Amino acid sequence: MTHPGAEEAREKLLVNLTPELRRDLRIRAAEHGLNMQDAVASAITRWLEGPALPEVATKGAKSWGVYLPAGTPSRFTQACEQRELTKVQGMAQAITLWLTDHPSPAERRVAQPVKRILVGNQKGGVGKTFVASGLAQAMAEMGLRVLLVDYDAQGHLTRRLQIPGLPEGADSLLKHMLGEADKHLARSLVALPHERFGGRLHVLPASRDAFLMDTRLALLQVGRDTALTRALAPLEDGYDVIVLDGPPNLGLAIDLAIGYVQRRPGELIDHSGILMPVWSDRSSFDAYELLNEQIETHCRMTGAIVDQLGFVVNAYDFRKGVVTRSFYDGWNELTTPGVLATLKDAIEGREASDYQVPLLEHAPESGQAEVMRSLAKELAA
Ligand SMILES: Nc1ncnc2c1ncn2[C@@H]1O[C@H](COP(=O)(O)OP(=O)(O)O)[C@@H](O)[C@H]1O
Ligand SMILES: [Mg+2]
Repeated sequence: MTHPGAEEAREKLLVNLTPELRRDLRIRAAEHGLNMQDAVASAITRWLEGPALPEVATKGAKSWGVYLPAGTPSRFTQACEQRELTKVQGMAQAITLWLTDHPSPAERRVAQPVKRILVGNQKGGVGKTFVASGLAQAMAEMGLRVLLVDYDAQGHLTRRLQIPGLPEGADSLLKHMLGEADKHLARSLVALPHERFGGRLHVLPASRDAFLMDTRLALLQVGRDTALTRALAPLEDGYDVIVLDGPPNLGLAIDLAIGYVQRRPGELIDHSGILMPVWSDRSSFDAYELLNEQIETHCRMTGAIVDQLGFVVNAYDFRKGVVTRSFYDGWNELTTPGVLATLKDAIEGREASDYQVPLLEHAPESGQAEVMRSLAKELAA
């Protein structure tokens, strides 16, 4: 995902798009080595030049924002008026045409590394643990082999899944990062027992020494920047996806996690990256500004490319009024692709946490479980 403003002048176009088209566009653009906004710009150019097209289904289209070269949004809007189409229909046609013109280059696809997703936001209580856990559950239910890492010393994830923390003195993730462990890290994993996960969902539990992570890492003279990548490397072959439940701060630990999800050579755009749970309020925007700054600094200082996969707007309630709704639109306007999923504050989520049962086991038919499944589908594709 590219942020606006850095390169040439761009203008934002806000238009509704179906989740299916958004997903196909995101994946296909990545397969062609393009970012979404460049793919959309080329889709519009081609559509403007071409003849009228058959109508495309737009049911279920949701608010979506994209930054385009200056002048393109107004040309697109004018063309829609001339063709007597809504912008939603025009965009659906343009993207459908682009997808037809750009088939999946299956034969060029190189083997991809394990998908690495950091669920990150230094703000506490926004739903990182809830989203990381629900997403991992949904991916395992889909048939993927998933490792869920409790990367927050508080151990909320570990407790909410009723997993015993690692005993004192055990080979924790931190010990592995510091090069002080004796046993293979796989020995510290716990598989969730529920049938729906088919033994495919494993958790690396928290351990109390994680509270010392930043301090211990700061004292490490050699190999600090790659400590997490080195520690997790021996596990990667056994998984399709590794999800990290991030800590509520912007310290060294999160910097290493940002480094861990950076794009590797040959890895597709948006295959790995950072998923950010946020709320529809001002303080979440302030928090994002800081997080974004840390990500950008990391990239500048290390030369890494880190994909921001998008936002999950959590605890959203449109009845809370205009301000809440306008912040919600703000998440779509801020970045491309903006909001990947929207979760309501619902009783099932609270119960699952408090009863310490995985959400998809506690309330498999709930709206929240469905949102987790569609998020998993989008990110796994
Ligand atoms: N959409 C939601 N509906 C209901 N409860 C939620 C929802 N999102 C989070 N929660 C609950 O709110 C609390 C804080 O969320 P949590 O995931 O722990 O946030 P974080 O990890 O960012 O600190 C937890 O008890 C969690 O289960
Ligand atoms: Mg948490």
